[in-house]
Amino acid sequence: MSHNERFELLQQMREKALLGGGEERIRRQHQKGKYTARERLELLLDKGSFRELDPFVTHRSSDFGLDQNRPLGDGVVTGYGTVDRRLVYVYAQDFTVFGGSLSETHAEKICKVMDMAMRNGAPILGLNDSGGARIQEGVVSLGGYADIFLKNTLASGVVPQLSLILGPCAGGAVYSPALTDFIIMVKETSHMFVTGPEVVKTATHEDVSFEELGGAYTHASKSGVSHFVADNEEDATFMVQQLLSYLPQNNLEDPPYVATTDDPLRQDPELDDIIPDHPKEPYDMREVIRRVCDEGVFLEVHEHYAQNILVGFGRLGGRSIGIVAQQPAVLAGVLDINASIKGGRFIRFCDAFNIPIITFEDVPGFMPGVAQEHGGIIRNGAKLLYAYCEATVPKITVITRKAYGGAYCVMNSKHIRGDLVLAWPTAEIAVMGPESAVNIIYKRQLAQSADPDTERARLVAEYRQKFANPYVAASRGYIDDVIQPHETRPRLINALEMLRNKRDTNPFKKHGNIPL
Ligand code: HXC
Repeated sequence: MSHNERFELLQQMREKALLGGGEERIRRQHQKGKYTARERLELLLDKGSFRELDPFVTHRSSDFGLDQNRPLGDGVVTGYGTVDRRLVYVYAQDFTVFGGSLSETHAEKICKVMDMAMRNGAPILGLNDSGGARIQEGVVSLGGYADIFLKNTLASGVVPQLSLILGPCAGGAVYSPALTDFIIMVKETSHMFVTGPEVVKTATHEDVSFEELGGAYTHASKSGVSHFVADNEEDATFMVQQLLSYLPQNNLEDPPYVATTDDPLRQDPELDDIIPDHPKEPYDMREVIRRVCDEGVFLEVHEHYAQNILVGFGRLGGRSIGIVAQQPAVLAGVLDINASIKGGRFIRFCDAFNIPIITFEDVPGFMPGVAQEHGGIIRNGAKLLYAYCEATVPKITVITRKAYGGAYCVMNSKHIRGDLVLAWPTAEIAVMGPESAVNIIYKRQLAQSADPDTERARLVAEYRQKFANPYVAASRGYIDDVIQPHETRPRLINALEMLRNKRDTNPFKKHGNIPL
C-alpha cells in the first residue's frame, strides 16, 4: 500500500466512525428530539477543542451475528477537550450504535478516560444515552459496568464527576451516574429506573408511565436522584458549563477565581427589612442569598427536592462558595429527613473540593412526627451533623432568625468547628421555641392559673425577652459577633479572606462511618 493509499484509508475510516450507526439511525435519533453523541460534544466543549480517543475500537463478540457488524468506536465517543478553556474528559454514548449499549470494549474506553482524568486531575463528564448492558455479550458486559462503578468510586472526591442523562439509563446502569457528584436530566427524553414500567406492572401491579416513574422531574423532586432538570439538551449543556465554573479541577486545587464588578464592600439596606416582625411569618431565604452573593447569582442545586433547605453555589469577592440555608418559606425551614440528606451530601462535596461553606440559619428544629421518627430522622439527621463536623474547609454561619434545639448544634455551630458564627440582631437562640418551652417549664403553674391564656402569653413574652435573642450566646462566645443585616456581604468576604489559609485536619483513619 502506498503512503497516499494509507492516508486515504485513514480518511475513510474517520468518516465511517463519524457516522456511528448510520444515517438512518441518526435521523431516528433526531426525530426523538435528541442529538447524536458527537453533536452533543460539539455543543458542550469549546469549539475545536475535542480530541477523540479510541475511534477505531471495535467489539470482540462473534455471537448472534455480531461478527458481521463491528462499528468503529463501539457505541461510545470518548476523549478530552475544554470547557471555558479548562480541561475535561468526556464520554458520550452513541445510541445509534446498538442503542448505545455497553459492551466489554465500550466499558474499556470509558474506563480509559476515567483513569486519565484521575491521573491528570480534571473533571469527568459522562453523557449517558444507552439501552444498558449489551445483551449479546452477557456477563462480559456486566463486568464492564462493574469496572466503571469501581472507577466512579475511586474517582469520587478526587475529580468532579458530572452525569448528563440524555436518553434511557436503566437497570444496573443507573448506578454509575448515581455514584457521581451531579446528575442532570432532560425533561421527557431522559429516564432512569432500576426496573421499567412493564416490570413494575408485573411485580406490583402499578400502572405508571416512563416519565412518572423515572423522568427528570420525578427524580428532581421525589427521589432526589437528579440534581438539575433541563428543558432540553442545550439547557443541560449550559448547566454543566455553569456548574464547572464553580468547581476546581481536582481535590488538590482551589476553585477558579472569577473577576467581579460587584463591590466587596457593598452593603444592602433592604436586608434590614427582610425578617418579618412576627417570628412565625415566612420570608424567602433565596432573597437573602442573592442580595449577598456577587452579582446576585445563586446556582441552586436540588432546587425541587426538600425545598425546606437550600443548597447551591455562589461567589463572594470572585471566589466560589457552597451555600447551605434554611428556607423559612417552606415548612418553616424545618430539618426533616430529606433536607438533612440533601444538606449533608452537598457539604461533603464542598469539603472534598475545597469550597468554603456559608450557612444561613433560620431553623425551628428537627421535624416532629411519627413518619419522621419511623423514617429515621435520627439516623438521617445525623448525616447532616456528621458532614458539618467532618468538614475542614472554611465554615461560616449567619444566624438570621431561629436557631433552636439540636438544629442549633447541627447548623455549623462554633462547637463543631464553625470558624466564624455571626448573628443578625433578629436571631433567637434557645433550646426550643418560646411556646413549647413555656408549656413544659410552667406546666404546673399554668394548670393552676385562673387565666392560663393570659399567663401563658406573659410567660412567653418573658421567655422571648430572656432567650430569643443572640446576646446570651454572644456573651459566651458561641457567636463571634452580632452584625447588622446590611453589612452581611462585606463581613462574609472579609471572613473568607481571613480564612484563606485555614488548615485543619481530621484524625488519621481509613475512613469514618457516616450513618448511612
Ligand atoms: C443490544 C440493544 C440494546 C441492548 C437496544 N439495543 N438496547 N442492543 N443490547 N441492551 C438496540 C436495538 O436492538 C436497536 O437495534 C437499537 O439498539 C435501538 O433500540 P430500539 O429498541 O429500536 O430503540 P427505542 O425504541 O428507542 O427503545 C430504546 C430502549 C429499548 C427502551 C432502550 O431498546 C430497550 O428496551 N432496550 C433493552 C433495554 C434493556 O433491557 N437492557 C438491558 C438491561 S439490563 P437496531 O439494530 O434495530 O437499530 C442491564 C444490566 C446492567 O443493563 C447491569 C449493570 C450492573
